[in-house]
Parts: sequence; C-alpha cells; structure tokens
Amino acid sequence: MKRNLYKEKRSKIDNRGLYAADDIKKGTKIIQYKGKIITVKESETNPKYDNDKAIYLFNINKKFDLDGDFKFNIARLINHSCEPNCEVDGIGYKLWVYAIKDIKKNEELTYDYGFSFDKDYRKYRCNCGSKKCCGYIVRSESRWRIKKSEKKD
Ligand SMILES: C[S@@+](CC[C@H](N)C(=O)[O-])C[C@H]1O[C@@H](n2cnc3c(N)ncnc32)[C@H](O)[C@@H]1O
Ligand SMILES: [Zn+2]
Repeated sequence: MKRNLYKEKRSKIDNRGLYAADDIKKGTKIIQYKGKIITVKESETNPKYDNDKAIYLFNINKKFDLDGDFKFNIARLINHSCEPNCEVDGIGYKLWVYAIKDIKKNEELTYDYGFSFDKDYRKYRCNCGSKKCCGYIVRSESRWRIKKSEKKD
C-alpha cells in the first residue's frame, strides 16, 4: 500500500497541522480535501454557513460547494501561511491539496486561506512565521490593502 505523504503533528502556527512525511515534488497531489457536496444556494442561505469566514467551504462550480467541516476530512488541519507551499484545486467534483513548490520532509503543509480583505481583517491575526507574513489571514491579492489601511491609522 502507498504510504501517506502527510502526517499530523502539533504546529507552531496553531494547535495541530499537517506535515510532509517525505520529500514532495512540486505538482504532487498530497491529500484529498474531503467533504459533503452542497448547493451554492444552501451555502448562501443556511445560517450554519453564515459564520465569520466559512473556512471549510470551497466552491466547486456555479452550482455546488464543498463543506469540509467533518472529522474524516484530515486536510482540514492544514494551516494558513502567507508564503504557502500548497494550494487546493478541483478536478471535477473532487478537491485536492497540491504542492506548489518542492517540499522537504517534515515541513509544515500550508495554503492561503484566501480570506477577503474587509473591515474585520484585524480579527484574524496570522501566526505563520514566514518572512512575508503580513500579520493577518488575508488572501495574497488583497494584502496591499493592509499596508494602506495601517498607514491611515
Ligand atoms: C482549518 S483549522 C486548521 C487546523 C487547526 N490548527 C487545528 O488544530 O484545528 C483553521 C483554524 O486554525 C487557525 N489557524 C490556521 N492558520 C493560522 C495562522 N496562519 N495563524 C493563526 N491561526 C491559524 C485558526 O484558528 C483557524 O480558525
Ligand atoms: Zn502570515
């Protein structure tokens, strides 16, 4: 049987995280992001999903989302980083966590949670520890807004 490319461990970023169990080449599918397929309509209307940042919710296509908030979804343990080594991407109705760079054995697996920049961004402090850390969990495309906003204060 093929060995898992990940292992679960305590993380310096937050509580628990997933780590590379071996050297992993860029482009490798590491772990499936499992969950329940729900309609976009449900995710938009069910108050269960009306939380701060719907961390476990991923869009599949125009009609469907995937709710990954289940114990069996081990990939939900992956923490956010401002300089991530993974990305979550879909193939049909399945989501996979991919390596976006070569990853060394024992490195923590991370991806960009993709939180949008809004008035609440200060609620989500980032503890990723990377040189590029912007201090908050905000998607890379929106991080320039933080500097702008902090200048104003
Ligand atoms: C999807 S869980 C990740 C697994 C989590 N570490 C655990 O042990 O359950 C998401 C939560 O982890 C924490 N987290 C993830 N990345 C973080 C980061 N870069 N900085 C601070 N907290 C983070 C936040 O509390 C977030 O709500
Ligand atoms: Zn960070």
